[in-house]
Amino acid sequence: MSHVLTTERLVLRPVTTRDYSWLLIHWTEPAMQRFLFDGKTLHPEEITRTIGDSMRDFAAAGYGLWMIREADGTDLVGTAGLRPLESLGLEVFYSLAPVAWGRGYATEAARAVVDYALGRLGLPEVLAEVDEGNSASVSVVERLGMIPIEVVPGLLGLISRYRRTR
Ligand SMILES: CC(C)(COP(=O)(O)OP(=O)(O)OC[C@H]1O[C@@H](n2cnc3c(N)ncnc32)[C@H](O)[C@@H]1OP(=O)(O)O)[C@@H](O)C(=O)NCCC(=O)NCCS
Repeated sequence: MSHVLTTERLVLRPVTTRDYSWLLIHWTEPAMQRFLFDGKTLHPEEITRTIGDSMRDFAAAGYGLWMIREADGTDLVGTAGLRPLESLGLEVFYSLAPVAWGRGYATEAARAVVDYALGRLGLPEVLAEVDEGNSASVSVVERLGMIPIEVVPGLLGLISRYRRTR
């Protein structure tokens, strides 16, 4: 089964080992470290592990990490994915290269991932976590129609959790 997702302007395809170098540059940018990895320095082997986990999870359960490119181009512009949130379920997450901010790409990609999770995967709900102060990401989850459910302490401050059901 293909796990490629297409939207009006974007193509999302599962990550492969060939994406390692792009992810190393993208995910070690300060904004990504702060909001995707709790401010921790991302070690190269974690990228290798993330790619391996995604390939395994797509094969076994149909979800993982997607790489995003514009439908009319070849350059990568970001990532979106589904991953376990503790034992609560799957959370949607996303990141865009700063050159691609402000065009609605994150919302468009994340919407495709949430629709896929609630549709083809048949999940009853999708979760999201947003760090306090990440207003750009709050706007994304609000545009997706996700509802705030609780605030929990995180490593660097409070984290708001959101949910969308079918
Ligand atoms: C979170 C993040 C992906 C948001 O990026 P973003 O570009 O603000 O979000 P979108 O791609 O959805 O773009 C939305 C903006 O594009 C604008 N836009 C412009 N053209 C648009 C179009 N054709 N369609 C839709 N929106 C458009 C919207 O008005 C909106 O602007 P606003 O926020 O000023 O109202 C980005 O800040 C990021 O990568 N941060 C680091 C990683 C991170 O924090 N990830 C979240 C944790 S899971």
